[in-house]
Amino acid sequence: MTYVHGYDTRENERLEDQAGTLVDLLHSDTAYPPGSTVLEVGCGVGAQTLTLARRSPDAGFTSIDVSAASIAEARQKIDGTGLTNVEFQQADIFALPFDAESFDHVFVCFVLEHLSRPLQALAILKGVLRPGGTITVIEGDHGSAYFYPDSSAAQAAIDCLVELQRRAGGNALIGRQVFPLLVEAGFEAVRVSPRMVYVDSSRPELVDGFTRKTFTAMVEGIREPAIAAGLTDPERFDAGVRDLYRTTERDGVFCYTFFKGVARK
Ligand SMILES: C[S@@+](CC[C@H](N)C(=O)[O-])C[C@H]1O[C@@H](n2cnc3c(N)ncnc32)[C@H](O)[C@@H]1O
Repeated sequence: MTYVHGYDTRENERLEDQAGTLVDLLHSDTAYPPGSTVLEVGCGVGAQTLTLARRSPDAGFTSIDVSAASIAEARQKIDGTGLTNVEFQQADIFALPFDAESFDHVFVCFVLEHLSRPLQALAILKGVLRPGGTITVIEGDHGSAYFYPDSSAAQAAIDCLVELQRRAGGNALIGRQVFPLLVEAGFEAVRVSPRMVYVDSSRPELVDGFTRKTFTAMVEGIREPAIAAGLTDPERFDAGVRDLYRTTERDGVFCYTFFKGVARK
């Protein structure tokens, strides 16, 4: 699988900024009971792991990722915090080294969007979940990005990202599919809540942490591959990125919606 965002330092910083800015919006209602076991799937460099483990200090987390380098970085990050309720393991969703029904809960954030077989992944995760256990899935949807001033160049730059992710086997518009995927995978009591990030200059921490360092940085990050793939040209792409930054000015507005699904086995 080609991971469209790559694994470099800037991408890791972007994931950290994203996690820091969105903690309350995405995680305020996630807490696991003492003694419960949680499988975090595709933990990356541990941006969500830290929040999860802190918010549920008496639950035990097993956090896995297919990337050994990311796991090493995540482990280092948690080691520095004194948290002792997380174990990291390199593992692939499609070849999980766990017994059936061995976890009380499963948590998946920003991972299904990168998989060509998200439904199969959910079915596998359902297999390691005990009956009555829960799954939490959080995904974005780039179709939910709208902004002021509006800009067709900015929209076209975002579309380049959506197209590159599609060509890599993923789906940057998967947020709207969290409900149907969970239902199709056979989960019960599926509830999806949209979490909208609304940014204007009265919220400077979101202007910086979300519009600039998370969303626009992500689009900017695919400049070279998008040009190489013939999806755009330098002038048009740079104009789009400039227009995204333009939304961070005093009169600018940026909106984006994440989708958080919780369901039971
Ligand atoms: C966008 S990152 C999200 C990381 C983290 N969940 C977060 O929210 O910051 C997606 C992660 O999924 C991992 N991943 C992709 N395919 C995977 C697979 N088949 N098995 C396990 N992890 C996978 C990638 O290595 C990457 O670290």
